[in-house]
Amino acid sequence: MNAPRCDRTEAWAALAGHYEAHGRDLDLREAFARDAGRFAALSFEAPEVFADLSKNLVDTATLKFLLDLARECQLEARRHAMLAGEPINTTEGRAVLHTALRAPKGQGAHSAEVHGVLDAMLAYAETVRDTAASGIRHVVNIGIGGSDLGPQMVVPALDAFVHPGIQFHFVANVDGHDITPVLRRLKPAETLFIIASKTFTTQETMANAMAAKAWFTANGGTDTAKHFVATTTNVKAAAEFGITTTFGFWDWVGGRYSLWSAIGLPIALAIGAEHFRSLLAGAHAMDRHFADTPLAKNLPVLLGLLDVWYRNFHGFTSRSVAPYHQGLKRLPAYLQQLEMESNGKRVDLYGEPLPFGTSPVVWGEPGTNGQHAYFQMLHQGTDVIPVEFILVKKPTHALADLHTKLLANGLAQAQALMLGKSTAQALGEKAPTASKALDALTVAKHRTFPGNRPSTTLMLEQLTPRSLGALIAMYEHRVFTSGALWGINSFDQWGVELGKALCSELLPRLASGDSAGLDGSTAGLMKRLLA
Ligand code: F6P
Repeated sequence: MNAPRCDRTEAWAALAGHYEAHGRDLDLREAFARDAGRFAALSFEAPEVFADLSKNLVDTATLKFLLDLARECQLEARRHAMLAGEPINTTEGRAVLHTALRAPKGQGAHSAEVHGVLDAMLAYAETVRDTAASGIRHVVNIGIGGSDLGPQMVVPALDAFVHPGIQFHFVANVDGHDITPVLRRLKPAETLFIIASKTFTTQETMANAMAAKAWFTANGGTDTAKHFVATTTNVKAAAEFGITTTFGFWDWVGGRYSLWSAIGLPIALAIGAEHFRSLLAGAHAMDRHFADTPLAKNLPVLLGLLDVWYRNFHGFTSRSVAPYHQGLKRLPAYLQQLEMESNGKRVDLYGEPLPFGTSPVVWGEPGTNGQHAYFQMLHQGTDVIPVEFILVKKPTHALADLHTKLLANGLAQAQALMLGKSTAQALGEKAPTASKALDALTVAKHRTFPGNRPSTTLMLEQLTPRSLGALIAMYEHRVFTSGALWGINSFDQWGVELGKALCSELLPRLASGDSAGLDGSTAGLMKRLLA
């Protein structure tokens, strides 16, 4: 496709001019005072997700120029290429078809294979969930990156739907401190291990899988075939490991887009077949929204455009995600891989170095915990960091009073970031804990909040399999949008290669002590480790 890169378009130049003239100094408080319709104009509906973008540093002109940019960069044609299964992952010559994994039977690409594995996996999950018959009380998923973060995020998020008689454990790190405390509490006869690896070669996963197998036999486990299953594209390697039950997937499913495939087995075991299908259906509804909704009302597109606006014009280098739902505690970690492994790239599709920034740093913690940690910096630090609040209207617990407090906190933080507090306001207040030794003006300066700090509020009716599916798919398509505009390959991850290769070289040196030819620092550190 000969679509221009974003920085070579007329819209990019127009955006640069708009930023200088109106964007840099846009004041949210003035914008709301001027326009009573701002909330209505800048809030959007997508399946299961309502989004208030009105507290962002944009006006209708900004959105118009951003939409022009999307059109000039042929976002719609790029989207079509992905959904049609063209090999848009050019450096690996692969299609990118995670959307096919959630298409109803007969509707998506590779439907027969997709639904064949899905049906088999869900039927298997139901046999394990019959704990009286299976005897399984613990499931240990051994996988890393995309073979870990999705299930590890979704299972606690959907805790209200999880089988009460099975505990779920996630082991990823090659650090033995990860698997050891898990195994210490288990019995082989009650445990099912899932070895989850797209390639079935990843060092960490293979090392943990071997450790689990050794523990299993050493502790009297007998039926390896019953207690170990694999989820992988490399069915042959899984068989060589001695695993007879394998659920496969395909090279057109990227690791960080794979929770909808067999990699979702822990989720299926946790919430059951019907709820797993709802998760897929929610994602599919968002896929339809992304595919069919005009760009100006298309939520993932608008969020991706906002990311470009903030990264490339305002120069913001990070975005904080604050889910006001404890179940979503691993969402920031999940999004780190989704966004930063996808869009943390420094060259365009043709290998040319980019003259502009790409993926922001994505980070965060659930609210209200973050408020008592890093929110100080968000409110009064020297950097402006857009924040994404996720509010869930109805809880899945009965503690209504706690939930009201949680929601009030989320709303208040977004409000405080935007409104701030002037020095004059601070001067007019009493600050009982302030030092009496300081003059009132100095204290007021410390208690001043600049405000005008942007945020997005995403709102779900309730955190259910369907709404979570839609939310995750929204993030996937948002990452696609910004990556497409930046003209990068969002679907490879060469940046993880070098460290892996150097680790393979260092491993035998740690056994032999041979530091010849190493750089001075690595040699020095190695000697100290071996002393
Ligand atoms: O970190 C690199 C990576 O390739 C990820 O993209 C992937 O999710 C992860 O490693 C795990 O790979 P695998 O599923 O093949 O074990």
